[in-house]
Amino acid sequence: MDIINIHDKNLFFIGGVVRDELLGKESFDIDLTYQGDAIEFAKTIDGAEIVQINEPFGTVRIKLNNEEIDIAATRSESYPQKGHLPEVQNIGCLLKEDILRRDFTINALAKSTLTGEIIDYTNGLEDIKNKTIRVLHDESFIDDPTRIVRGLKFAIRFGFELDEHTKKLQDEYLKNINYDMSFKRLKKELIETFNLNSTEAFKRFVEQGIYKLISPKEFELPKTNLENLINKYNPENIWLIYVGLLPDISNLPLTKVEKTIVENYKKICNTNLTSNFDIYKTFNELNIESILMYATQNYGLVTHYLDNLQYVKLEITGKDLHELGMNPSPKYQECFDYILAQKLENPELNKAQEIQLAKTFFNII
Ligand code: CTP
Repeated sequence: MDIINIHDKNLFFIGGVVRDELLGKESFDIDLTYQGDAIEFAKTIDGAEIVQINEPFGTVRIKLNNEEIDIAATRSESYPQKGHLPEVQNIGCLLKEDILRRDFTINALAKSTLTGEIIDYTNGLEDIKNKTIRVLHDESFIDDPTRIVRGLKFAIRFGFELDEHTKKLQDEYLKNINYDMSFKRLKKELIETFNLNSTEAFKRFVEQGIYKLISPKEFELPKTNLENLINKYNPENIWLIYVGLLPDISNLPLTKVEKTIVENYKKICNTNLTSNFDIYKTFNELNIESILMYATQNYGLVTHYLDNLQYVKLEITGKDLHELGMNPSPKYQECFDYILAQKLENPELNKAQEIQLAKTFFNII
């Protein structure tokens, strides 16, 4: 917050940044809201250059001392279509109205840029102290079911718990889900939640039935703990390693790569991998995410590949085969596979032994 050097009685830090400062955590996204006309206000800031204006939302981006800063106008919201983006209303409304449209009390705190005073209309300070996640009203999850995943995200990130009534509202919603919702927003929250790479997040996601937001098909928590493997191999799409295990995620908008990861995981589940060669040839082609997902089916086989087989490399090259008098042809690949199958059983094989095997393959005496 220190980088923002604008002080005005109507300008407030709001949401996550206030929560994070109180918790002593770094915030990556600094939200500022202006009670009134933010665009007109921005024009009065000394030394500020207006970079962008979004008239319908009353937001403005300024450049001040080489920093780009977004200032939103206070607004209220309504949800004419439950589960979808809210409709913006009353731009420039009272700060209190802006606060009451928000998800949880811990995210509903504001801090004056003028006095540094914390404005707390919903008892958010008390909830932060008690490590409690509490919705502001009973319709919160009906308006926006992605908030259920957000609740899980904050619970895991901060070690907080849902308050009892909020948990009850969550359970009620999960028994009667309206699937006409924005799955794009749900996906964004799933990514942020599972990027925390926590076995505990996945456990709650499954045991509390939060996964049903994606599809009602029943799912049981796998016994395998993937956290260590994920930490070791650092995959890009952590969220998909967890969420992709569900029987049906067709509601989620997936990229081409994400679709391939899930399809390949399902494919290996239906493949009989009996030899080291089969394992190597199958896994060698796959994204690490698919392989780690398969650890829930056969942990030993996956670690055998990741710890041993994947490092086995042939030393013999096409040039060596040529020097043996063989002309390039599909037989080269067959020969390499023949040698690889043996090297996977005996990784100590050296280049001379590989060449010997090539001679055997091609019947060269
Ligand atoms: N918000 C909400 N309902 C949502 C998403 C957001 O009410 N479904 C509100 C919350 O008050 C939140 C603010 O909008 O604090 C900003 O949203 P976002 O940047 O997503 O949340 P942060 O709290 O900043 O969370 P993070 O630290 O994960 O960015």
